[in-house]
Amino acid sequence: FLLGIDIGTQGAKAIVINQNGEIRASGSHPYDFSVPKTGWAEQHPHQWWDGVKNALKQISQRGIELENIKGIGISGQMHSLVLLDENKKELGSSILWNDVRTHIECKEITDQIGETKLLNITQNAVLPGFTAPKLLWIKKHEPERYSRIKHMMQPKDYIVFKLSGELSTDVSDASGTSLFDVKNRCWSNEIIEALKIPHDWLPQVHESQTIVGQVSVQAAAETGLPFGIPITAGAGDNAAAALGNGIYEEGKGIISIGTSGTVFAPLKQVPERTGEGKIKTLHLFCHCLPGTWHAMGVTLSAGMSLKWFKETFSINSYDELLSGVEMVPSGSEGLVFLPYLNGERTPHNNSTAQGVFFGMGYQHTRAHFTRALLEGVSFSLKDCLELIEKMNIRIDDWYVTGGASKSGIWRSILADVLQKPLRAFEEREGPAFGAALLAGLGTGVWKSPDEFPSCFDQGIRSEYNARNSKIYKDTHEIYSELYNRLVPLYS
Ligand code: XUL
Repeated sequence: FLLGIDIGTQGAKAIVINQNGEIRASGSHPYDFSVPKTGWAEQHPHQWWDGVKNALKQISQRGIELENIKGIGISGQMHSLVLLDENKKELGSSILWNDVRTHIECKEITDQIGETKLLNITQNAVLPGFTAPKLLWIKKHEPERYSRIKHMMQPKDYIVFKLSGELSTDVSDASGTSLFDVKNRCWSNEIIEALKIPHDWLPQVHESQTIVGQVSVQAAAETGLPFGIPITAGAGDNAAAALGNGIYEEGKGIISIGTSGTVFAPLKQVPERTGEGKIKTLHLFCHCLPGTWHAMGVTLSAGMSLKWFKETFSINSYDELLSGVEMVPSGSEGLVFLPYLNGERTPHNNSTAQGVFFGMGYQHTRAHFTRALLEGVSFSLKDCLELIEKMNIRIDDWYVTGGASKSGIWRSILADVLQKPLRAFEEREGPAFGAALLAGLGTGVWKSPDEFPSCFDQGIRSEYNARNSKIYKDTHEIYSELYNRLVPLYS
């Protein structure tokens, strides 16, 4: 068996797969993030570690002998900053990927290094949410904590550390730090030195499938995992989710709806970051297989918009939330939602943006609000997808994973908004599955993805309804216009 673990924003998941790619057991443990101030988002690393231990406990309770696990792969939320002191103890909470407090530091880094150089080396603009600006924020606002830093890493690297005692990261996660030379797949000394970050804070960076450690005696005692089994470097959740859905070659793309929403297109080489390629909010990161990269757009509150609505209005379950949505006409009879609950990254890079419901009238029921939420998130994903198309990246087949892959109504709204057919593997937990595949590559179960089991059939296909093209085009125009007009009020 192979074990895949994912450190999500709303919970930890673990799955066990066999050599045929069949899921034999899974476990999950939910947790929340705190919002100490507007625009902030934090979690303590112990929430992730407790989550992993609980998810593993569930797997053993489901009759799987952890003894039979031969390799481990881990994926996790990208960018979130984990700090350890000289005794390798956690230094406070992690500032998460969806925390937008660092827009000033992003500007400072850009002014200092220069936008062109940043795009040439890191292949990305510095965006709030990325890792380096968080470090500079801590330096400025929490100098005492900054002075105690000895190691920095990201969430899945912290779990690799808890399991093995090793400090490591992989190329896909390192890509989101603003400190990484994405084309050459190594840390950028030039940027690290310019920002006066000590080199020895950074973990060694590996290709995602490389074995970086083994389960330690202590971790074996804490988790029930067998001592000594190999752990691969793992990957950022988006790269892992793509791999877990078979998306690693040009021509196929994937839209993922977790807490965030992402639109992801694999690349064989790094495109020029000039002309349309300069689009600042489009990410360009290493994919989790050697010699591959990907372009990506990220909307910050996708599944999170639904979770926020469900909890704020005390709706018991997602089934209850979604009930009646299919009876509401496309376009939600004029109700429009902007999903910018904690600012927005792609396409606006605006940390002051906020969520909006616009156009309420007596005709609207709760189901209209839910439908408007699903439509608003879909518009935001459309904005991301259009940026990818602008870069002339051609995708023939779009897949969808996460929330929308599990809900027929969301899949069909997304397909209609995009006016594209979508494929989905309904039962697939993308990131954990991709992480388990990386464990299989690292331990030699498969020599290359060509040898993966035939778990990547076509998936289920959702068609789009061409008759809804006009209503969604018109509503998308109102959605865009609303944002543009609100910008002066946001700031
Ligand atoms: C990617 C990003 C999010 C997180 C979510 O750039 O910030 O998709 O990875 O876990």
